[in-house]
Amino acid sequence: MTQFYLTTAIDYSNGEPHIGHAYEKIGADAIARYHRLRGDDVHFLIGMDEHGQKVEQTAVQQGIEPQALVDALAARFSAMWKRLDISYDQFMRTTDAMHRSGVRALIERILDKNPDDFYEKAYEGWYCVGCEAFKQDAEILDGKCMLHPTRTLEWVEERNWFFRLSRYADFLRTLLTESATFLQPESRRNEMLALIDRGLEDVSASRSRLAWGIPFPKPLSSGEQQTTYVWFDALPNYLTATGFPDQSGPAKWPAQLHVVGKDITRFHTIIWPAMLKAAELPLPERVWGHGFVLFGGERFSKSSGVKLDVDEAISRHGADAFRYFLLREVPFDGDGSFTYERFEERYNADLANSWGNLASRVIAMVEKYRGGLVPDGAFDDNDRLDTADINAYHSAMGGFLLHEALNRAMACVARGNETVQASQPWALAKATDDRSRTALDAILSLLVRQLARQAILLAPFMPSKAQTVWEQIGGPGSIHDQRFEHLTSLSAAGWSVKKGESLFPKDI
Ligand code: MSP
Repeated sequence: MTQFYLTTAIDYSNGEPHIGHAYEKIGADAIARYHRLRGDDVHFLIGMDEHGQKVEQTAVQQGIEPQALVDALAARFSAMWKRLDISYDQFMRTTDAMHRSGVRALIERILDKNPDDFYEKAYEGWYCVGCEAFKQDAEILDGKCMLHPTRTLEWVEERNWFFRLSRYADFLRTLLTESATFLQPESRRNEMLALIDRGLEDVSASRSRLAWGIPFPKPLSSGEQQTTYVWFDALPNYLTATGFPDQSGPAKWPAQLHVVGKDITRFHTIIWPAMLKAAELPLPERVWGHGFVLFGGERFSKSSGVKLDVDEAISRHGADAFRYFLLREVPFDGDGSFTYERFEERYNADLANSWGNLASRVIAMVEKYRGGLVPDGAFDDNDRLDTADINAYHSAMGGFLLHEALNRAMACVARGNETVQASQPWALAKATDDRSRTALDAILSLLVRQLARQAILLAPFMPSKAQTVWEQIGGPGSIHDQRFEHLTSLSAAGWSVKKGESLFPKDI
């Protein structure tokens, strides 16, 4: 089996989960579930970024110990991911002992393989606690970080360990230009190349007045023991989750895919590959830099003050409808807005009136006309048209264009509804001749196998509703154990349908 080791960004433990965090986890979950249906050996990692100044400051503001803060938030985030049916295999916390020793081992390995890559330097500059990064002049507007305009920048003067990032400019340029897939979408790649062309500065790898973190393995020449800079602690989580320095973990390094937001793509495609290169370790195969979910034109974040209660949004129509809406509405390669108006429109049009209605009509007809037993019937042009959409669905999923894949799955749903309209099964059911009987068998057989295909195509997006449809049409076992390779030849003949609860009720 081919390993598919997939990760998401680890979320900062300084506030509640919001729709932006949820969007990334849902998107990555759809990718993980898609790969399981392909038969890949999927390992899906998510987790929490628990060290650093941002977390330390929040704990001070709340008058609690940082450990108590991160423990409470880890419980809160993991409960949210359970509620959203995120099928993660491993939940990483950067306060875990295994991670802490792994980070130290990675830094020691760089010190061993390329000792010149770390050097001591006195530095002064503006530090944004929101980004957990020093900011260059071009990133500051009216004295504020452009990404966190509600926060105050801190002037920091320190002597730190520095990582010689500038040395890796050529390596990174080649990596980004020669591999078309290392960083996608294309627009992000161009942004990163432009950044490299403007010149890469070396980055601080340790912090002096920060207690909440992992001790940097080597003291300064003055003897001062510093704390590892939070990004040097956070990025290696993908590696330490594999058990680094030994490979005792559940997945083997390298990861096949890192899914991260566009604001932190540069950490993943510039600093992280440079660190790995310095440690002489393999690079992750692909990085996907998704866009932002916006609300009233603003992105969600603790500091932007944009509030929309994620629990309330999920409660509106349940986890699956929320997953569907976000991934259908916000293109995975760009930005998009969350509005309750659009949510209602899509829920009614795409889910209740289209897929839900189709499933309930088809099941009712099989019960009424064939006593619940799905008849046999030959494949026809509708199957061929579905196959064309299925092929397009796979190429969209292969390129992580989740909205486009959903579009193709929903085209199959629309075709099912058109089949019902065009064939008028109720009229055929009234006739008593053999030809009408055979024709009705063929239509019902087609409609149920179309539903079965739709359920499998939609399973990565709406895992629980897909299972419900699967059970109602009498599909064997769990839908999540099905395999795409059998999708186009799948026949539902002989299955027993069973009407159940309404799939997408209108009044919850
Ligand atoms: N802790 C760092 C990541 C370290 S990864 C080694 C971090 N945390 S975060 O909590 O601020 O963000 C976590 C993820 O959520 C990031 O990928 C970020 O881009 C994403 N999102 C935060 N707000 C978002 C939206 N409004 N929309 C979509 N995703 C956004 O960055």
